[in-house]
Amino acid sequence: MILPLVYHPNDILRADNKRVEDFTDPKLKELILNMVETMHASNGIGIAAPQVGTNVQVCIISTEDGPLPLINPEITKQSFRKEWAEEGCLSIPHVFGDVKRNKGIKVKAQSPNGDVFEFNAEDLFARVIQHELDHLNGVLFIDKAKNIREDTSRTSD
Ligand code: CO
Repeated sequence: MILPLVYHPNDILRADNKRVEDFTDPKLKELILNMVETMHASNGIGIAAPQVGTNVQVCIISTEDGPLPLINPEITKQSFRKEWAEEGCLSIPHVFGDVKRNKGIKVKAQSPNGDVFEFNAEDLFARVIQHELDHLNGVLFIDKAKNIREDTSRTSD
């Protein structure tokens, strides 16, 4: 089911997001499926639960191998090197800005079954994860971006 997106400004995007504790709750898998569907329908490359109105620590990252759900994710290591690149956000349509992010990160998260896994990410993959983890901390890219601009001819991702 495609869920309605929550648009900035909205308190839901700034609220605390609860850690997932019960991995047997069927609502978790339903939320993940709906978030994947919503991300694809809006041509996004990542989506976080508060963007569909649920304040929990869940996000989906689009990868070459398909959608990657991250539950209770955290960054455990960051590269010294940072890079600027343009970002947009499904919750802030047609707005773009340049954001400085760590080029590489190490991420620890849980799968939808609750298994803990860790992996390294670089470049755009690392950038999308950092953007989505910001959402899980109530932070939006416009809080950090430079050269914020509006372009109604482009869709946001
Ligand atoms: Co976003």
